[in-house]
Amino acid sequence: MKCRVCRGPAVIDIRRHNANFCAEHFLRLCRDQVEKAVSRFAMLQRGDRVLVAVSGGKDSLALWDLLTEMGYEVDGLYLGLGIGDYSDSSGTYVRAFAEARGLHLIEVDLRADEGFDVPTAAAATRRVPCSACGLSKRHLFDRAALEGGYDALATGHNLDDEAAVLLGNVVKWQTDYLGRQRPVLPAGDGFPRKIKPLVRLTEREMAAYCVLRGIDYQVEECPMAAGNRHLGHKETLNDMEVRSPGAKHDLYFGFLDRAVDRFGSATDDEDPVALAPCAECGAPTTGDTCAFCRLAGQARAAEPVTLRPRRRSR
Ligand code: AMP
Ligand code: FES
Ligand code: ZN
Ligand code: ZN
Repeated sequence: MKCRVCRGPAVIDIRRHNANFCAEHFLRLCRDQVEKAVSRFAMLQRGDRVLVAVSGGKDSLALWDLLTEMGYEVDGLYLGLGIGDYSDSSGTYVRAFAEARGLHLIEVDLRADEGFDVPTAAAATRRVPCSACGLSKRHLFDRAALEGGYDALATGHNLDDEAAVLLGNVVKWQTDYLGRQRPVLPAGDGFPRKIKPLVRLTEREMAAYCVLRGIDYQVEECPMAAGNRHLGHKETLNDMEVRSPGAKHDLYFGFLDRAVDRFGSATDDEDPVALAPCAECGAPTTGDTCAFCRLAGQARAAEPVTLRPRRRSR
């Protein structure tokens, strides 16, 4: 196996590019793919201050590393979700990464700062955990980015994530969601610009990137996400990818090139919804109180739920 660029010994094959790469040229490929996504979708400009949401997993730590290497001024934001040992160890990876590189990390802890955690919120509202979790994350990411005056909020969503969500939205023809499945959402009143610079890279590539760059990351999946339907869609797409390399890329980028505009513009200004400040927190909302404040109110009033350690099946 030889590197496509230098003909030296390769460390990874990427069937979608029909090529193999040595460590140096694979790392360069990752940077090139991020540059390409950033410029094609006008995600960032030189000098922009970026806040990257880091979970402790491979994607977001790799993203923090990549954007910093590319010369952007990037701070990290870690949200402690209170999901037992999983959250404790995720935070440890993020702090170690930031300390080793002298990077600035902002931490928000749901239990300490907001008075509840994800397991309690999920139980109190009878929502599936990922829904209570996603709602809290979006709200607190927006708030931190706005308070810190950042130009953009970046997340580590990769091609596998975006293609799986797209597949799910197409299967159910969720047209509202389809219109928002772009890798950039422009800033709006009370919302920061949101960017996904890893959309041209896969989960496997991000794991290889971390190994080659010596980045230690949380390998466990969130214990509350088991049975999440995105995981099933990822498996389906992985099967397709084996039979036809490039399928994930074609699905997602074909959609962006040829279909997303049919489902509403990036700013949704054809169909404006009146937003007013939430009575409790001031975030933009269509009702009196935003969904986060309603969730937080119910969760704070509930008995805290303790996560039982999972028994290992193997
Ligand atoms: P997920 O929704 O868990 O697939 O995560 C998607 C992205 O959200 C990650 O790549 C991170 O950028 C961000 N993220 C997830 N969990 C956290 C967290 N606890 N703190 C900060 N950012 C997070
Ligand atoms: Fe949100 Fe698992 S990380 S439910
Ligand atoms: Zn090479
Ligand atoms: Zn609110």
